[in-house]
Amino acid sequence: AFGPSIVSTGHLPPNPRVDELVEEAWQRYRGVGDGTVADYIPALAKASADWFGICIAGVDGVVHAIGDAERAFSIQSISKPFVFALVCQALGGGRARQSIGVNATGLPFNSVMAIELNADRTMNPMVNAGAIATTSLAPGANAEERWRFIRDGLSHFAGRELTMDQEVYESEAATNQRNQGIARLLLAYDRMYSDPEEATDIYTRQCALNVTARDLAVMGATLADGGVNPVTKERVVDEDRCRRVLAVMATAGLYEQSGDWLYEVGLPGKSGVAGGLVTTAPGKGGLGVFSPPLDAAGNSVRGQLVTRFLSERLGLNLF
Ligand code: DON
Repeated sequence: AFGPSIVSTGHLPPNPRVDELVEEAWQRYRGVGDGTVADYIPALAKASADWFGICIAGVDGVVHAIGDAERAFSIQSISKPFVFALVCQALGGGRARQSIGVNATGLPFNSVMAIELNADRTMNPMVNAGAIATTSLAPGANAEERWRFIRDGLSHFAGRELTMDQEVYESEAATNQRNQGIARLLLAYDRMYSDPEEATDIYTRQCALNVTARDLAVMGATLADGGVNPVTKERVVDEDRCRRVLAVMATAGLYEQSGDWLYEVGLPGKSGVAGGLVTTAPGKGGLGVFSPPLDAAGNSVRGQLVTRFLSERLGLNLF
């Protein structure tokens, strides 16, 4: 439907072609009016439905951006794969898998039913139960050290110091009783590895870290580059950890729509309720899209359209 795709060669096409396609994607989807801006966290409801940014970062460190690619928004659930990468790095992939799990729930991201129905309880690090449990595994002698581990680690992925959106944090902290309940329930099942209130609070902070579409592209490209940030050239995690993270993103990155996503896009991705979407093309680069209106599962509508288009036109589909 999008015209001929470029045959996968192991690299992105030449840079001018990528620029052209990024511009084409932005023009093609800027007028789409579907979806709803999240309002279950009151501060998020202030976002404009028109904000729209796209960025691709190649593993060569070249960045292609258009629109609101430098506009800050809270990372939300897109923090989940990167925190899992850091915890895998600290504990080893085997222990992280044992402590959390890596199978899909097929249920919404904040499902309590998924905890009750599965012997694994936490299920995987992309849904809230598994993500809060992952945060509870962050190393550190106290809450401050564990928070710093996460904030600094995510900053290394982005290649700049990330800061928290205080308003979003306070707004979510005042309304996150469901996540507090999930953390307590996991404690009852021995699947919570530090104080549940503390883990929920640090999880809420990590979700409130501000990023841009450009940051997401660089973070995705770091996973594409075997754990080396292609802009700063710094190794953030080992290659083996990236494989594990990309596997869980492919399995559950778009929640109950992960199968549809993989069928159409063929790449590991992760969405967040502020409208961000990150995608990794292993060995090639990362794509970050920002557009606040979401579909019913909580995934950015334009983000999915852009990623499907660029995956096809750039020949990124893994299959
Ligand atoms: O746990 C929550 O409710 C949010 N802080 C993060 C949720 C999220 O981004 C789900 N995504 N699509």
